Amino acid sequence: MATNRTLTMIKPDAVKAGHIGAILNQINEAGFRIVSLKMTQLTKRGAERFYEVHAERPFYGELVEFMTSGPIVAAILEKDNAVADFRKLIGATNPADAEAGTIRAKYAKSLGENAVHGSDSDENAEIEGNFHFGGTEQF
Ligand code: RTP
Ligand code: MG
Repeated sequence: MATNRTLTMIKPDAVKAGHIGAILNQINEAGFRIVSLKMTQLTKRGAERFYEVHAERPFYGELVEFMTSGPIVAAILEKDNAVADFRKLIGATNPADAEAGTIRAKYAKSLGENAVHGSDSDENAEIEGNFHFGGTEQF
């Protein structure tokens, strides 16, 4: 069931810059159905847990600080081949390398402040979806 779902977050930089509407529109136009949606702010604990796989990386502290610096918009998205297709739609992690027209090419500021998150596997999509949304919030 998780194979056609992914989890995204519109990160604090893009929320602050006023890009929520444009990004959700691009997601819709690309054929993703919104299963769950909310605006929220991660706690330090929450961000540490969400990005735990990066705990040993040198940028972990910076990443947690950035992700808690303001509100985010979290969403579960559904589409055939959701994880891979969404990573294609958002573009490379570093916006300097992101293909023209991708969400990161259009809205990301830097490698650290790169506008959106996208799950990297079906397994993580399910874990991350359940991190943000309870069963009664998934439609
Ligand atoms: P995400 O998980 O947010 O969708 O990003 P990603 O898969 O494209 O990249 P990942 O390797 O999972 O890294 C997670 C986030 O950490 C920040 N980062 N900073 N300063 C740095 O060298 C560095 N490298 C990564 C980025 O915000 C990246 O999206
Ligand atoms: Mg990642």
